[in-house]
Amino acid sequence: MKKSKLLFFKIYEKFYKMVRKSDAFSAYCVDAFGEDFSQDGFSDIEQINRILEFIPDREEVHILDIGCGNGKMLCYLQKKTGAYIHGFDYSSKAIESAKLMQKERAEFLEGIIGEIEYPPELFDVVISMDTMYFTQDMSAFVSQIKKWMKPDGVLFIAYQEGDVVAKTQNGDTTLINKALRANDMKASVIDITRQSYDLLKKKRLAAQAHKNEFIKERHRKWYDILIYQTEYASVPYEEFSKKMARYIYIARK
Ligand SMILES: C[S@@+](CC[C@H](N)C(=O)[O-])C[C@H]1O[C@@H](n2cnc3c(N)ncnc32)[C@H](O)[C@@H]1O
Repeated sequence: MKKSKLLFFKIYEKFYKMVRKSDAFSAYCVDAFGEDFSQDGFSDIEQINRILEFIPDREEVHILDIGCGNGKMLCYLQKKTGAYIHGFDYSSKAIESAKLMQKERAEFLEGIIGEIEYPPELFDVVISMDTMYFTQDMSAFVSQIKKWMKPDGVLFIAYQEGDVVAKTQNGDTTLINKALRANDMKASVIDITRQSYDLLKKKRLAAQAHKNEFIKERHRKWYDILIYQTEYASVPYEEFSKKMARYIYIARK
């Protein structure tokens, strides 16, 4: 598949070029998410720290991040656990940055969801933070991930409804839950819609707090995007939760 034809490809190339040199964006991430992982989505430090409990305390542990961006989140997990980190993303700019940042016990690859391959049973933990929507066939992709996981491996998914994919009734009715079930994976789900609503509000305030720095850096366009992306939390929670939902899935073979 030609990358330039894939959803949001050009905008992600520009995004990862911008975050390389933007102190305003870095400061915004710290305020909004508690840590700068160059987040485009909703992965705050609380959600990332939940992953730690699934990383086994063994000599050689391998974790994979699907759509890893510039790899900052993986580097954080490596610092906390000493794990080997693997990540892939279709953005060449993101992968260039990741490769510069970490070389020890790390593998960053430019690759497309649904096309990239890994050896069977390599990973103890596979992470997908807001990236499951970017596959043509979610069930086929889950089947591929399942093969990459060790027999006792864990798949950790953060999944948002209401922007890229439509809202369904609840955590059982989502496309990802159907894909997990179709592949006989045992999954538990945690509804974090309320936290996501609060985070959106925090993201908006954090962006506003750094508005002048964005403007000074000539990154006004990115500030405007942040304001636009957080607009839908300006309604009461009851209204928000009719259109949006966020879940964490923890799935095993
Ligand atoms: C919503 S962002 C999430 C990034 C990061 N996981 C986070 O939580 O902040 C989606 C990520 O997936 C990557 N991506 C989108 N579509 C992709 C595809 N088809 N193949 C590989 N990576 C893709 C983007 O470049 C971006 O880094």
